[in-house]
Amino acid sequence: MRIGVDYYPEHWDRALWRQDAELMRETGVRVVRVAEFAWSRLEPEDGRFDFAWLDEVIELMGERGIDVVIGTPTSCPPLWLFEAHPEISQADYSGQRDLPGIRGHRCYQSPVFREYAGRIVRRLAERYRDVKHVIAWQIDNEVEGSFCCCDVCVGKFREWLKRRYGTLEAMNAAFHTDVWSGDYSAWSQVFPPVKNHPMTQYNPGLILDFQRFASQSTEAYVAFQRELIRSIIPGARITTNSWFCEHLPDLYSMYRELDFASYDNYPSTVPDGSSHALHLDLMRGVKRRNFWIMEQLSGLPGCWMNMGRAPQPGMVKGYALQAIAHGADTVVHFRWRCAVGGAEMYWHGLIDHSNVPGRRFKEFEALCEAVRALAPADGSRIESKVALLFGMDNEYAFRSQLQAEGMYYMRQLADWHKAFTALGVNVDVIDQNADLDGYGVVVAPTMYVRSETAARSLHTFAERGGTVLLTCRSGVKDVNNNCIMAPLPTDYADMVGAHVAEYDALGADSARVRFGDEVCRITCWADILESDGAEVVATYLDGFYAGAPAVTRNRYGAGKVYYFGVYGEAALCRGMAERMLKDAGLAYRADLPEGVELVSRTNGDARYTFIFNNGPKPAALDWEGKTLALSPYALRVPELGDFEL
Ligand code: GAL
Repeated sequence: MRIGVDYYPEHWDRALWRQDAELMRETGVRVVRVAEFAWSRLEPEDGRFDFAWLDEVIELMGERGIDVVIGTPTSCPPLWLFEAHPEISQADYSGQRDLPGIRGHRCYQSPVFREYAGRIVRRLAERYRDVKHVIAWQIDNEVEGSFCCCDVCVGKFREWLKRRYGTLEAMNAAFHTDVWSGDYSAWSQVFPPVKNHPMTQYNPGLILDFQRFASQSTEAYVAFQRELIRSIIPGARITTNSWFCEHLPDLYSMYRELDFASYDNYPSTVPDGSSHALHLDLMRGVKRRNFWIMEQLSGLPGCWMNMGRAPQPGMVKGYALQAIAHGADTVVHFRWRCAVGGAEMYWHGLIDHSNVPGRRFKEFEALCEAVRALAPADGSRIESKVALLFGMDNEYAFRSQLQAEGMYYMRQLADWHKAFTALGVNVDVIDQNADLDGYGVVVAPTMYVRSETAARSLHTFAERGGTVLLTCRSGVKDVNNNCIMAPLPTDYADMVGAHVAEYDALGADSARVRFGDEVCRITCWADILESDGAEVVATYLDGFYAGAPAVTRNRYGAGKVYYFGVYGEAALCRGMAERMLKDAGLAYRADLPEGVELVSRTNGDARYTFIFNNGPKPAALDWEGKTLALSPYALRVPELGDFEL
């Protein structure tokens, strides 16, 4: 486990580099990421390269035992390149090009961009291939699906559709273009959706396909850089850094051939008890192994919005330890210093503009110290009996077609993740199409778009004795994003043992359900169920569907299948989670205080319990007969000793 920083030597006077490297060494920094936006300093003119400054920085780090990650600088092509080749920037529907001088506006598909990007990446790889302490490569920065309408992208989208459907007739049938005179009579009529135009006005089939295409284009771009680096440094460890952006590429396929997943982790600085644990578990699930944080919260957020709250005491250290608890074995803080110039000067780093290391820096020092204490747990992994499924198509389709106020695919995941983690069990968040062997409980929220693989494996999992949870808006769409003409939840109705007779989009309204002896609130959505043999677990108390089932449980093969037709308040989800864990015979803790997160990591026979207080108030819990106290945002690992980190 190690701590690092993102460093931008190109922003600082040379005199500062040595001081910075020295302070990093003293503090315990073990890795720095550099160069991911520095193209114009690495290639100031077409074909004239200047690596001397980077050589010097890499050497300064190496002399101090600090490893280096090189970010390929392709997110910000230099202005001379835009001037010579305006076609490398993204275009909107009218052909208007994005403004040079910002970042992330290059078109991944442009052959000219690829040529130049390939050249700088090749030069970097050749230059640093033999430097032992260059331990990893980050491709570009936070790549995401782009809505570029340049000729190249439009042409490639049409080709993609031709490959998928073969003929216009087949594509028209798949998209149901009978609606709104949407029939295509020539491929030249096909365009990507326009950026920032409401998605709800487009054909849902086109939208979903475009999102798949945009994701695959991003993946192909990452693969292009990956292959290039690998051709020069066969053993290179390569990644790219991700966040949960609007046009998320398919993380599972994008990272398949990369060596590790990395995530940019900016938990909320508002002390409201919200948790980033879902994101962390999701990123660990991408390759089903430990991952990196490539950017970690270090100060007040800002720039793209008003500045946010200053991290509360404990957050800078605590959130990094929380990420480690969930499997991030390297945590790189964004950034060593606040920028004094440029658009991002108000996204704060560890050292303030004053150049006086202050409160947050002291916490960072304490973090480096804390990580040394965690050394015995190095190499440990997280094993989980509970899996939560994530489907890219579900996210794409659900996001682009509104269902009811407050209803988001990710919210369902967050609600269920919270319900289970509040009971102290490890949760893996994995691809809906992944193998489910070894799990006891599988939570499959909103299986919205048909995946035959996922439907088959959920059936098999339940048949063999697993406990499954399915929720509302499952089995709604076919692969073309059209509604399936059968009673919901269609592909899952047999295992659920009930069907949806009707539904009500409650949005911000709420209704009550009876769940055992309790009365709980539900909101957003109400599936009015009819049992085909399933036992009724919760019943509506309000409205024209009072008395109808809202939640059911069915025996299917040797297993049990719950169907949750609503969005429930936390107490209801938690009650459900408890029932499922009991059904599956899995141990859990019902006595954890609010906000206390428990993750167990194992290493052979050794087990380490990471207990984190994700809240602004002190907490206490029972641990093997003793009371264990936790300060706000503090971590304890009782197996390592009686101390707080
Ligand atoms: C990330 C990005 C960084 C920096 C940071 C803070 O999304 O990768 O370069 O911009 O956000 O805004």
